[in-house]
Amino acid sequence: MRALGNDVLDFVVDFIDARATAPAADLDHPLPSDTDDPLDYIKHAAAKAVDPAGPGYLAFIPGGGLYTAALADFITAAVNRYTTVAALAPAFVQIERDTIRWIADLFDFPTQAGGILTTGGSMANFSAIVTARDAAGNANRQGTIFVDDQAHHSITKAAHLAGFPREAIRVIPSDDQLRMDLDALEKAIKQERNASLVVASAGTTNTGAVDDLDAIADLAHDNNLWLHVDAAYGGFFQLTDRGKDRLTGINRADSITLDPHKGMFLPYGTGCLIVNNGDALRKAHTAGAEYLQDLPDVGLPNYAEYSPELSRAFRGLRIWLPLQLHGAKAFEQALDEKLDLAAHAYDRLEQTQQFELPWEPELSVVAFHHPDGPRILDEVNRSQRVFLSSTTIQQRHTLRIAILSHRTHQERVDEAVDLLEKAARAE
Ligand SMILES: Cc1ncc(COP(=O)(O)O)c(C=O)c1O
Repeated sequence: MRALGNDVLDFVVDFIDARATAPAADLDHPLPSDTDDPLDYIKHAAAKAVDPAGPGYLAFIPGGGLYTAALADFITAAVNRYTTVAALAPAFVQIERDTIRWIADLFDFPTQAGGILTTGGSMANFSAIVTARDAAGNANRQGTIFVDDQAHHSITKAAHLAGFPREAIRVIPSDDQLRMDLDALEKAIKQERNASLVVASAGTTNTGAVDDLDAIADLAHDNNLWLHVDAAYGGFFQLTDRGKDRLTGINRADSITLDPHKGMFLPYGTGCLIVNNGDALRKAHTAGAEYLQDLPDVGLPNYAEYSPELSRAFRGLRIWLPLQLHGAKAFEQALDEKLDLAAHAYDRLEQTQQFELPWEPELSVVAFHHPDGPRILDEVNRSQRVFLSSTTIQQRHTLRIAILSHRTHQERVDEAVDLLEKAARAE
C-alpha cells in the first residue's frame, strides 16, 4: 500500500512541478496502447490533453486543481464516509455545513439560509430553478423565466429539465456592455401575467459582464419574482474589495450559484448553491424515505433532503482543507491578482493597436475582435504556450483571454499578448 502510494505521490508532485513548462495543450502524440502498467498509462493520458491545470490555460472559464484539494480527495476516497445522511458521519457533515455557511456569509445570507455542494454550476442552477418553481406555490404552473442573451446555457437547460416549456423562457436583450437591459426587462415583466423568476449573471462566460444586480433586485422585489444569480464564474471575487464593489446587490438574491472549481481553483466537480430561505431548498428536494427511519436527528442537515442526489461524493473536505491550510486571505490575494492581470492584458492589447476592444474587463475575462480571429486563435494555440478559446457575441467572432488559474501570472499573460500581436501582424 505504502509503495503504491509513494509511486502515486511521486507522479503527482512531478506532474505539478512540470506545469510551469508543460505544453498548454498536447493532443498530437499517439494514444498509449499499452495498459500493462496503469500508472504509465495515466501519465500518458494526463499528458495527451489540454492542460487546465497549467498557467497557459486562458480558455473558457479556467479551473485550477489545488494540490491540497487533491490531498483532501485522497482522504475522502480512502475513508469513504457517507455524508448525505448526517447521523452516519456527523463530524464530516459539520465540515460541509460550515463550508456552505462560510460561502453564505460572504453574501450576508441569514442564518436560515441553506445550501448544497453540487458537481458544478449546471446542477446548482438546476436546483435553484426547481426551488424557485416550487416556492412559487404550484409545481405544475411554472410561470415565466427571464434570462438575458448572455446567460449561461445551463440556465435554459435547467429550466427545460425542470419542466418549463420553451415558451416560458423570455430572453431579454443585453445592452452595449452586455448586461441585461433593464428597460427591456421591466417591459417584459409588465407584459407577463405569470412572471415567476429572473436569472441574472454575476460574471458571464463570454466577457465576465456583471448585471446591475441591485436594479434587478429592485425589479424582482417590486414584482414578487424570485431572483437567482448565476455567479458560477464571478461569485468568489466577492472575497476581494473590487469584486464586492462590482457584485453590489448580489446579497439581495434569493439564490446564488457558485463554482469553487472556478473561483477557488479547486478540481472539477465542485459547485455550490446557496438559498436565502433554506427551507424552500429543502421543501423542493425532500421526498421521504422509509428505510432511513432508524437514523436520529443530530441537528445537522441531511443533504439528501436538499439535493437531487442521495449517495454522492463528500465534497466538503476539498473546499475545507485548502481553506484551513492556506487561509481565506490567500484566495483573496490570488483573485485580486487575476483582476490586475485582466486589466493589464486589456491595456497591453489596446497598446498593440491590432484589436478592437469594446468592453473593459469587469472581472478577469478580456474579450476582443479581430477580422482574422479564427486564424489568430489557431496560430496562438499552435504555440502550445497558451490555450485560448473564442466565442460569438452579437454575431461577431470574438477572441478572449480568461484568467482564473492560480498558476497564471504576469509572464504568461504577457506571452499571450505577444503571441496575439505577432499573429495579428502576420496577416
Ligand atoms: C456563468 C456560468 N454559469 C454556469 C456554468 C456551468 O458550470 P459547470 O460547468 O460547473 O456546470 C458556467 C461554466 O462555465 C458558467 O461560466
